[in-house]
Amino acid sequence: MRGHGTPRGAVLVGFMGAGKSSVGKEVARRLGAEFVDVDDRIEADTGKRIPEIFSSEGEQAFRERERKAIRDAVSVPGRVIATGGGAFLDAENRRRLKAYAPVIFLDVSPAGALTRLAGDTSRPLLSGEDREKAVAELMARRRPAYSEADFRVDTENLPPDRVAGKVLHLLARGTKGGPSGERAGKERRGG
Ligand code: S3P
Repeated sequence: MRGHGTPRGAVLVGFMGAGKSSVGKEVARRLGAEFVDVDDRIEADTGKRIPEIFSSEGEQAFRERERKAIRDAVSVPGRVIATGGGAFLDAENRRRLKAYAPVIFLDVSPAGALTRLAGDTSRPLLSGEDREKAVAELMARRRPAYSEADFRVDTENLPPDRVAGKVLHLLARGTKGGPSGERAGKERRGG
């Protein structure tokens, strides 16, 4: 429970290119909260860029570092935490993040993600030849996990500050009057 006067945090999850870092920074600024980008923490801890971690240590080692960075991130209340696109697929991370603060799934279409990530070389999972196929497959596989977030925000064609406004609106409504707004799971009924 987040009682009166307790700092309000939030967690942003979603696919690469959904805008988690830029939206998270803006949400934190407007809440007066500390912003933590999990990928940035991993890079700072290791002194390596993410593609380098993937190539020298492998994805499993990266995921272990990610779990640790998330454990560290949730050790201080009231933060706005932006996760990497694969973090919420891990059951332990999901449990920790959901226990920490409302989790918001920033949704982007495959086409939207491809547009936003055009020319980007910092995502090792999209470094293969057929980026379109990789995005479509990964996104389809990941959607069930993202749907376990508390809220979903459609980011299509919206700049980060507009998405941040939607997130803040959901946070305000969700913490006062009980859950409301766009629920992450599509098939919720009557409950
Ligand atoms: C990943 C997303 C990246 C980064 C790593 C793996 C993923 O973060 O954590 O490249 O599995 O989707 P962003 O979502 O910030 O790009």
